[in-house]
Amino acid sequence: MSTPQLRPELVNGHSSAAKSHIQLHGMQEGVTGLIRTSLDAKEFAYCPYSKFRVGAAVLARDGKVFTGCNVENACYNLGICAERNAISKAVSEGYRDFKAIAIASDMTDQFISPCGGCRQFMREFGASLDVYMSKPDGSYEETTVDALLPRSFGPEDLQMKKE
Ligand code: THU
Repeated sequence: MSTPQLRPELVNGHSSAAKSHIQLHGMQEGVTGLIRTSLDAKEFAYCPYSKFRVGAAVLARDGKVFTGCNVENACYNLGICAERNAISKAVSEGYRDFKAIAIASDMTDQFISPCGGCRQFMREFGASLDVYMSKPDGSYEETTVDALLPRSFGPEDLQMKKE
């Protein structure tokens, strides 16, 4: 059984997204760079059904960045969002402590807002996580997981006193 290969034109044209992680320096450059990386990651989106491309880039505390795109499936409900893909890649490489996540789509009139499932998925790794919701021109709106998912349920709740 053969493994699907990366499309070479995408790898060559978007080399930063082809790397699973990169180092960022300086905060302002960091935000801009993180958004740029999420825009690059969007190029790999596999979304033949929705035709709605999404990219994400999650920044770990030590500066490492992991990217993700949405990956859909002929069995529609098996599709995965870009944010969950990026976070899962990071966690599967030993990273659990995150500072920020940038999200990109092709929408020009509004900033991409993470779905409810992804908000909960992010919350697992910290309600204070910064979220940068962008447009294709690189403009963005900054928020936090806490603001996107108030009164959330997290790992700590499982430790609370029970009868
Ligand atoms: N999608 C994401 O990847 N992230 C979001 O936050 C919103 C939605 C994807 C899922 C699906 O592949 C497509 O966008 C349309 O819903």
